[in-house]
Amino acid sequence: MPVKKPAPGDLEPIERASRDELQALQLRRLQWTLAHTYENVPHFRRKFDAAGVHPADLKTLADLAKFPFTTKADLRDNYPFGLFAVPREQVVRIHASSGTTGKPTVVGYTKNDVDMWATVMARSIRAAGGRPGDIVHVAYGYGLFTGGLGAHYGAEKLGCTVIPMSGGMTERQVQLIADFKPNIIMVTPSYMLAIAEEMERQGFDPRASSLKVGIFGAEPWTPAMRQAIESKVDMDAIDIYGLSEIIGPGVAQECIETKDGLTVWEDHFYPEIVDPDTGAVLPDGEKGELVFTSLTKEALPMIRYRTRDLTRLLPPTARSMRRIEKITGRSDDMLIIRGVNVFPTQVEEQILKQPELTPHYTLEITRPANLDEMTVHVEMGPELANGAQEARHAAARKLEHNIKSYIGVSTTVRLALPGGIERSIGKAKRILDKRPKA
Ligand code: DLL
Repeated sequence: MPVKKPAPGDLEPIERASRDELQALQLRRLQWTLAHTYENVPHFRRKFDAAGVHPADLKTLADLAKFPFTTKADLRDNYPFGLFAVPREQVVRIHASSGTTGKPTVVGYTKNDVDMWATVMARSIRAAGGRPGDIVHVAYGYGLFTGGLGAHYGAEKLGCTVIPMSGGMTERQVQLIADFKPNIIMVTPSYMLAIAEEMERQGFDPRASSLKVGIFGAEPWTPAMRQAIESKVDMDAIDIYGLSEIIGPGVAQECIETKDGLTVWEDHFYPEIVDPDTGAVLPDGEKGELVFTSLTKEALPMIRYRTRDLTRLLPPTARSMRRIEKITGRSDDMLIIRGVNVFPTQVEEQILKQPELTPHYTLEITRPANLDEMTVHVEMGPELANGAQEARHAAARKLEHNIKSYIGVSTTVRLALPGGIERSIGKAKRILDKRPKA
């Protein structure tokens, strides 16, 4: 599909504003957020007091570095509603993310927060190539997860026809795509692959489907995965980023005309990159942990929230706001195998170099004799699965060799038959950690 650059009139004025205008707005909004938080959330007031800082100390954007960080533990310790900055009656929506251990993280929205979220999501869908009148199939999960409803409100606000499909019932997804002919799909990249496979199983060529744009996020995915999806489905695969604590999807969005990282909607979310160990703010361009401060949120303002996502800040291109580099890992997903740091996406990149393999994989970690071992389970494409034993052997050894030489870790590759790796209907679970718990 030829990619049309948005006409200037398509954009909100702030998407084209000068840096000076944007920074002046950010400063005003940051001052408001700090004061709102200090006055209304006892937990934040205690933390500010303990750090010896007061909202009035913020005179420039750089002064934000004096304020304490917020982590997931702050949310957990104040479970469920303790960090809300407005009376509970003004909270019109709750979402929660399950988290791997313990209690879920609970987030809340006022009516204005829901409107702001719909605005940044509408902006995101437009940046991905969506326009009023498009048909949008939402296959992110609806419910406590922010993906489904976030996408839904944004698509409606942009003026699209929304199909609120949610995740799961893959056969039905395919049938409704064939019947309703959506041109946009919003879903995790891993579930997009499962939908495309189901199309093939039903004898329906994914390349001939009505889908022209996929807005994919909620999990890390590589540029190689983008190519794999774009060629399988003949669509533009565009990255969307967000997290519940900051709003949900729509914190940053890749623009279809550049596909060069994700523009952060900096008029609502102020980004910093910090050294994950020391917490020191790093200059733009350096890689570190992404930290966000909300600028307009009422119910759950967030001050310097540590996302654990690793990336760098890049200068503006398609919009006036800065970008983040595609996020290919978070510090929680980093495996340390015999001293070597490994992210699942690095393995994905190697798998996708071999066209006889598929992007369906899991990494199993065991510790048989006090040493960590990694087994890569990866599904074969149909040709390899039906081919000679020697070809399978060669494919597995080649992948082991590439992982060793590009990532530096020895692994065992086990090939699975087509369909042998469980499909996710939301976020893919790549790591099976079978090491004994310490
Ligand atoms: O996953 C919100 C979302 C829904 C984003 C739909 C995009 C699309 P949480 O469940 O709170 O919220 O998980 C947030 O998911 O900190 C990242 O580690 C990861 N993540 C989200 N988007 C991307 C992306 C939603 N595009 C966590 N690339 C974040 C890489 C992503 N990781």
